[in-house]
Amino acid sequence: MIQSFNKIDKVNGVLKLQGDKSISHRALLISSLANGKSIIKNLSDGDDVKSTIKCLNELGVETSLKDNIYTISGRGFKGYKKPARQLDAGNSGTTARLLCGILASQNFESVITGDVSLSSRPMQRIIDPLSQMGAIIDSENGKLPLKIFPSEKLQTIKYHLPVSSAQVKSAILLAGLHLDEKTTVTESVQTRNHTENLLGLSIVREGNNILSSVSRNDYPVVKEYFILGDISSAMFFIVLALLTNNSELIIKDISLNTTRIKCLSILKSMGGKIQIDERGVSNNEIFGDVFVKSGELSNVHINNEIIPLIIDEIPILTIAGIFAEGNFELRGAAELRVKESDRINSVCNNLKKLGLKVTEFEDGFSVSGEIKQISEPFDSFGDHRIAMAFAILSCLLQEGGKVDGFECVSVSNPDFMQQLKAVAD
Ligand code: S3P
Repeated sequence: MIQSFNKIDKVNGVLKLQGDKSISHRALLISSLANGKSIIKNLSDGDDVKSTIKCLNELGVETSLKDNIYTISGRGFKGYKKPARQLDAGNSGTTARLLCGILASQNFESVITGDVSLSSRPMQRIIDPLSQMGAIIDSENGKLPLKIFPSEKLQTIKYHLPVSSAQVKSAILLAGLHLDEKTTVTESVQTRNHTENLLGLSIVREGNNILSSVSRNDYPVVKEYFILGDISSAMFFIVLALLTNNSELIIKDISLNTTRIKCLSILKSMGGKIQIDERGVSNNEIFGDVFVKSGELSNVHINNEIIPLIIDEIPILTIAGIFAEGNFELRGAAELRVKESDRINSVCNNLKKLGLKVTEFEDGFSVSGEIKQISEPFDSFGDHRIAMAFAILSCLLQEGGKVDGFECVSVSNPDFMQQLKAVAD
């Protein structure tokens, strides 16, 4: 589907967004393990989170939705039911990888599959540590489908993440929940810590490393969750407000987890008028409101250390970068090549359509030159974050623009178009 966008001159209003995608997956998975009924409010309505729900249903976890509140009937310790069919994670890396950690400790055989994009993404990064724990996982070339066999005995590990990935860390921690002794994951660059927060795990710093530990003592109990607004979805509107004249936007009840708001720090260091008002803590996650006013931006150097903390926001930060003073350059972000699309290639391809001078590196790209109006649609490459980033760019062009394959936005934010209409003045 080709979606057209007219130029937006000004943004005004208040947005309340659906629950954060990463926190939504985890609240579902953790509730499914507890023994009894947990409640989840403001769960993400995106297709990725629906994939997690569908997989859990196949595993005998009953879920119901009434008045926007989900009830999840958790099955208790090693209590999942053997699924009658393969578990389809759709487009969702978080579903496939986190679920694999749990399935490694169940007493039956199961298979995880996914769509074409997910089937091309690396799974060896979870197979390696889970196999070290004694899990038995079959896969061809380290990709989906993953066949998970019951293991005689899992054992704890102390594992240092070779790639900065919250999904790998979480898969190990979720497996470690089923063991009496302590399992520890160490990372030299911190990744998002929602699994630790929702399970109430200890996170300690030891020299240059950050350690997250878990054991059966941390096994979840029935709880009520309120999922805070998705900061990654909010970023598209924040950048639009910064780049349009006389705009004022408020985003309410948004997750302000320190491992997620580096994207706001970057925009602030670029000169963005952003004010953050922390209002409280819910399920160990900080939340509050974000106030944005339009203003001039200038590019800053983005250092390698910060990349894992802004990995999902790089497409929209690039849009801010091409409108900012100075050239935009990104390095140290090779992980972008194994996301829902090869995001380095997707971004570069689309930017070239604007007449910009783009140099693609293995781990990033640089952009310079003047933006010209375009008639040819941008391509979403079937990737929700590329689709939304280039939708925002289209709204900033004098003649507007189009995005081909726009329907994939439903992966994280099916309400994107309504929200855009609501704030466009
Ligand atoms: C996620 C972690 C990140 C991120 C993804 C969601 C999570 O992936 O890109 O969108 O919920 O843990 P990696 O763990 O592969 O970096």
